[in-house]
Amino acid sequence: MKSQELVFTNNVGEAIDAIVGEINPPTVFVLVDVNTASFVLPRLQALSGAVANATVITTKAGDMHKNLESTKAIWKRLGEEGATRHSLLINVGGGVITDMGAFAAATFKRGISFINVPTSLLGAVDASVGGKTGINLGSLKNEIGVFRQADSVIVSTLFFNTLSSEELRSGYAEMLKHALLQDKESFDRLIGNHVEDLAPDTLLDLLQKSVLIKKNIVDTDPEEKSIRKSLNLGHTAGHAFESLALERKSPIPHGYAVAYGLVTELVLSHMKLSFPSDVLHRFASYVKEVYGAFDFTCDDYPRLIALMRHDKKNLSAADINFTLLRNIGDVQIDCVIAEDDIKTAFDITRDLLGI
Ligand SMILES: NC(=O)c1ccc[n+]([C@@H]2O[C@H](COP(=O)([O-])OP(=O)(O)OC[C@H]3O[C@@H](n4cnc5c(N)ncnc54)[C@H](O)[C@@H]3O)[C@@H](O)[C@H]2O)c1
Ligand SMILES: [Zn+2]
Repeated sequence: MKSQELVFTNNVGEAIDAIVGEINPPTVFVLVDVNTASFVLPRLQALSGAVANATVITTKAGDMHKNLESTKAIWKRLGEEGATRHSLLINVGGGVITDMGAFAAATFKRGISFINVPTSLLGAVDASVGGKTGINLGSLKNEIGVFRQADSVIVSTLFFNTLSSEELRSGYAEMLKHALLQDKESFDRLIGNHVEDLAPDTLLDLLQKSVLIKKNIVDTDPEEKSIRKSLNLGHTAGHAFESLALERKSPIPHGYAVAYGLVTELVLSHMKLSFPSDVLHRFASYVKEVYGAFDFTCDDYPRLIALMRHDKKNLSAADINFTLLRNIGDVQIDCVIAEDDIKTAFDITRDLLGI
């Protein structure tokens, strides 16, 4: 799979027009959801001639609409509006739009060019980069998809001012994860900040460093056969918290679940691999301050463990598989952990987060 061109800039219009000029497609389409149609598209149409002249396809917003029905509607519109194998699709939105738009583009007439313009922090730092495209199938998340890199990804902070602080914090949790995988310097740069207080150019600089951490890992192992699994840090426990919250009908943002999951997995890292306890405590108090706490008791442990057992990252149905750290930047993938240790880690997580 080819490596993908990443552009970090707040001159988004110029960047789009330059890339579209290079690709030189006969027709250009822009995919937005109803929110980015109103908050982002008019600004982008004013900044970019290519976007101003493109045919706009609008979908419903939200992960529940990242499905086959919406994808079919995109394919249909592309066909009706005369898209050919040489057309270009520009995905302008959060992770839902970049995942689904990329999948629609990768499969339409066996694949047309697409570029991603992520407009949420989570989209910018994670979803729009790395070549995982796809849609949900019923309640199965990201069940259908292909690996396919965007021709370009244009990362900016220009459109983040219409995101809620909850959405910004959610994306920032993935940046914290990248920093933990990288080195102490990256970690120190992020911890202590409140993302909503950062100036756009400061955030763009932090975002660039963070995205490049992911890009380096993905370029080494694009199809997740080994080291790309390190990006699952925080996500085995995190997905279980996210699913439990959903079952209780009080969903929490993905990044918040990842923040709590990172605390649990750093506790496990400390128990199993002697991850330094001062870093664990520093991280946990930051999470407690910024993300609060997910309310769970020991009565929830069996369900959380059952949810982790069903995680598609496990190598076999009997195991619960984690990515852990010996230290910041020192990753150990494929750590199979026993249930009793996980329960102990939950006890310590609750203690650290004051639950
Ligand atoms: N492909 C990958 O590697 C990868 C990685 C992480 C997450 N994801 C996927 O990404 C999705 C989550 O991403 P997300 O949080 O960006 O979701 P999202 O696309 O649903 O965006 C969140 C909300 O913000 C709105 N929005 C986006 N940009 C906005 C802006 N600038 N101003 C105002 N509102 C705006 C959206 O319309 C939506 O309502 C999930 O579907 C997840 O599976 C994919
Ligand atoms: Zn995540």
